[in-house]
Amino acid sequence: MIKARNLKKIYKTGKIDLEVIKDLSLDIDKGEFISIVGPSGSGKSTVLNMLGCLDSPSKGSLNINNKLITNLDKTKLANFRGNHIGFIFQSFNLIPVLSVYENIEYPLIMIQNLPEDERKRRVLNLLKEVDMLNQKDKFPDAISGGQKQRVAIARALVTNPAIVFADEPTANLDSVTANTVINLMQKIQKEHNTTFVFATHDEKIVSKVNRVISIVDGNITEDRRV
Ligand SMILES: Nc1ncnc2c1ncn2[C@@H]1O[C@H](COP(=O)(O)OP(=O)(O)O)[C@@H](O)[C@H]1O
Ligand SMILES: [Mg+2]
Repeated sequence: MIKARNLKKIYKTGKIDLEVIKDLSLDIDKGEFISIVGPSGSGKSTVLNMLGCLDSPSKGSLNINNKLITNLDKTKLANFRGNHIGFIFQSFNLIPVLSVYENIEYPLIMIQNLPEDERKRRVLNLLKEVDMLNQKDKFPDAISGGQKQRVAIARALVTNPAIVFADEPTANLDSVTANTVINLMQKIQKEHNTTFVFATHDEKIVSKVNRVISIVDGNITEDRRV
């Protein structure tokens, strides 16, 4: 489903070019539950952002669902991302002026332009799935971290993406809440065969995935199925 070949990422910062990823190739299949692990600064987020089309590689090719996306322009890339990819962040990134319901509905209005009854059906289904139906009219400020992350998961899934990337999704959660959120993602992966790729060193996640990819200084040092 994902075929990354010889990806390179250079950050240009003032005078210095920082080569963070030198030559990274990777295949990811449908339904995989993967964790990318590695020390802080090793390039996990950079890899996730490239695979998730949030950022473009400096070199190399990236195929997702048989589409070469490395030569798409910014608008086409954003469009592709909105239709095929979900993203979950450490700091939730909900829109503060929108309710829980509206946050989840947002990608359907902005990207997929679905009719209202279909939007409603999908949002209500996901509110139930993440157990937030009774909180749907609250605003992000009024809910807990774990609830925010559950809303973020619903928002990531509402477009029916083939793949969801989650960058340290439990880093701001206590361990009980983290477990609830992880179990929810695992349940979704099992029921819908949605691919999940995490960047995390949270053992609670790493112990549940089927594949662990280790990155050190931007290189894959280990790729094992468990
Ligand atoms: N936007 C950026 N501009 C310049 N350097 C960056 C940028 N993002 C990340 N880096 C650098 O790239 C390296 C890898 O960062 P990152 O991918 O965030 O690692 P990780 O997620 O594993 O902590 C680090 O040295 C970091 O400082
Ligand atoms: Mg990171």
